[in-house]
Amino acid sequence: MDPIDLRSDTVTRPTEGMRRAMATAEVGDDQYGEDPSVRALEEAVAGLLGQEAAVFTPTGIMATQILLRALVPPGSEVVCEANAHVVAYEAGAAAINAQVQFRTVTGDQGRLAPQQVRGALRPVGFPNTEVGAISVEETTNRGGGAVHGLERLRALRAVADERGVPLHGDGARLWNALAATGEDPAAVGGSCTALSVCLSKGLGAPVGSLAVGPAAVIADARVWRRRFGGAMRQAGVLAAAGSYALAHHRERLGEDHANAHAIAERVAAVHGDLIEPTSVTTNILYVGTGDRLASEVAAELAEQGILVAAFGPHLLRLVTHLDVDAAGCRRAAEALVAALAAPERP
Ligand SMILES: Cc1ncc(COP(=O)(O)O)c(C=O)c1O
Repeated sequence: MDPIDLRSDTVTRPTEGMRRAMATAEVGDDQYGEDPSVRALEEAVAGLLGQEAAVFTPTGIMATQILLRALVPPGSEVVCEANAHVVAYEAGAAAINAQVQFRTVTGDQGRLAPQQVRGALRPVGFPNTEVGAISVEETTNRGGGAVHGLERLRALRAVADERGVPLHGDGARLWNALAATGEDPAAVGGSCTALSVCLSKGLGAPVGSLAVGPAAVIADARVWRRRFGGAMRQAGVLAAAGSYALAHHRERLGEDHANAHAIAERVAAVHGDLIEPTSVTTNILYVGTGDRLASEVAAELAEQGILVAAFGPHLLRLVTHLDVDAAGCRRAAEALVAALAAPERP
């Protein structure tokens, strides 16, 4: 039996329909601009997110990196949340690739507050480090899948505009945010100057992200993709998986959110101090382990075929996705409740 794998929404396997779409995709050499499947995906995503253009990349990190490179002058500072993926989990990529430094602020559940960001902008003028961009993550990974939403994004954009810098969006899970709020994708996408989105998280594609934004920015980002070695050839087989995911897997993201919430409710019913269910609005939940070591709880669950991620000495992360159904999530919740109640093994 396959494990119930809740470590991340990146562990999904392509569905039969997706594999068929990949196998039958029309392809060409994308670096000659001749791959129809890549072009169709880029145009569709740009249109959907209210932006002029998009460029397909192998990973979310590459999409972010080429955007930062295209948007931000080297030697300047990107203001972001302290646990944002771009600063915490990209192996220092932005320091090397875009040659920027970060100024971090601690938000609520990983979300930036416009006033707080305004306060973190250094004064203009030598020798102050120049502010190059504000970067916002939607949804927040380390923040437990929290959603900024359109109003807050627009307020952050207003702060960026006041300062004359771009608002960069890391939209690895933007689709989850849109599913949670029901907001207009074009309005949300258009609230950022430029943004990255992933197809390989909740949407279930095996590979693929896009950098999306104004035509001039994306033209520049395309050059940086080539420089970073991320320009591909018959990438239509991969783009077809992404187009399939957008057409068939977006609608169902609400199920993942309901499953995550149900796990949170069940755990909180027994261990009310270890999770606050109202904080779980999309597909990510963090659960404290109290006195128990997270690594030991995770190991016990793994023995029962349930995989969760130990994210700190006393913190677990669970992420719901299309390869785990409601029954699987219920089983995981019961096992987790029992493991959290069990005494420490000698
Ligand atoms: C918020 C966020 N941004 C960016 C990424 C990077 O995506 P990739 O692994 O495709 O490079 C991730 C990956 O999980 C993420 O959670």
